[in-house]
Amino acid sequence: MTFAITPMTMEDADKAYEIEAVSFNTPWSKDTFIKTMNNPLTHAFAAKAEGEILGYGFVMIVLDEAHILNIATHPEHRKKGVGKALMGEMLDFAKGKNASFALLEVRKSNNAAIKLYENFGFVIIDERKGYYQDNNEDALIMLLNF
Ligand SMILES: CC(C)(COP(=O)(O)OP(=O)(O)OC[C@H]1O[C@@H](n2cnc3c(N)ncnc32)[C@H](O)[C@@H]1OP(=O)(O)O)[C@@H](O)C(=O)NCCC(=O)NCCS
Repeated sequence: MTFAITPMTMEDADKAYEIEAVSFNTPWSKDTFIKTMNNPLTHAFAAKAEGEILGYGFVMIVLDEAHILNIATHPEHRKKGVGKALMGEMLDFAKGKNASFALLEVRKSNNAAIKLYENFGFVIIDERKGYYQDNNEDALIMLLNF
């Protein structure tokens, strides 16, 4: 499948938010999604094919830390390399901004995401018990040193 990763624009935001809404048990509110996108510390990317949004990701850069805030692929376009391309772009972007490491949190049961992150070299460095309030699930904290 041919697609491109580009910075997310306000025009992309509605379609990207639809992906957020169907991808998570407790999605961000639309307001949080837009505010995060407009936060000057945050950089949002979209995967696009012929104007269609296939997925998106947010990375926040504070000093030398790149925090992967969110990443999701439309359910109909999963397992086609979209998540890998988005993560690759966010990590390259962060390195270009002189980040020296990337951090993220992920649900312990989210095998697809954990596998994606491990493929990039992220390792589990910590576990937060009951971090996710909807089901009391633990979070894994994963780190990638550049
Ligand atoms: C996690 C997610 C973003 C992956 O996106 P994707 O576009 O399907 O990922 P890709 O096709 O680029 O796959 C990249 C790698 O991820 C892993 N992966 C993806 N889906 C997987 C699955 N269902 N089971 C196991 N591994 C999986 C594989 O290692 C894959 O590499 P490979 O194809 O070389 O084996 C997607 O499943 C998703 O949107 N999930 C819901 C939202 C979410 O949980 N986001 C993460 C929040 S922390």
